[in-house]
Amino acid sequence: MMIEKLVLASNNAKKAAELDALLSPLGIEVLPQSVFDVPEAEEPHPTFVENALAKARHASAHTGLPAIADDSGICVNALNGEPGVLSARFAGEPKSDARNNALLIERLNGFTDRSAFFYTVVVLVRHAEDPRPLIADGEWHGQILEAPRGTAGFGYDPLFYLPELEQTAAELDPKLKNTLSHRGAAMRHLLGRLQQGHLHGAAG
Ligand code: IMP
Repeated sequence: MMIEKLVLASNNAKKAAELDALLSPLGIEVLPQSVFDVPEAEEPHPTFVENALAKARHASAHTGLPAIADDSGICVNALNGEPGVLSARFAGEPKSDARNNALLIERLNGFTDRSAFFYTVVVLVRHAEDPRPLIADGEWHGQILEAPRGTAGFGYDPLFYLPELEQTAAELDPKLKNTLSHRGAAMRHLLGRLQQGHLHGAAG
């Protein structure tokens, strides 16, 4: 089975744009799940991999097409890995990057250890019942600032400082962010496996 079309299982337009840019060299038509009116998937699980798989399966079940999803978050060492898998809703409903960032600044008030990392798991399923989904993960390490800087990217990017570049993720050119980021690393790993033929042959 050769993949010609893939559904991108994300309703986060900025995250979807990053994934789309990473997938574009493959020559596969990438369709956002919004094209098919896929309702938002439940993300009830305590691990990134389970949530990513749930999102990919959900999109594939609704569209009948292969689907790719990522589940990601920021893990802050001084907060024992919080907000982690709950990053999107750290400050509660409705989801808000501005309130999440304000809460992170508040929670880290007084801490000298500002180290943190972004983490993602990317999952590709050939069909909703795929018994051997392709799975890859990635990490990106940095420091949490006391005030936001930059306007690019999304989520916690304005607080995520890269000492070696003296810039936050929100000050980076989007192409450079994709070269360095957790999502870029995971996608390159996944695409490498795709190109080795892991999705060809029997659908399994
Ligand atoms: P998800 O869409 O359920 O995977 O939630 C991911 C959340 O983690 C986003 O809403 C952001 O708050 C955060 N996040 C993940 N990746 C990034 C990134 O590349 N930059 C900034 N925040 C991110």
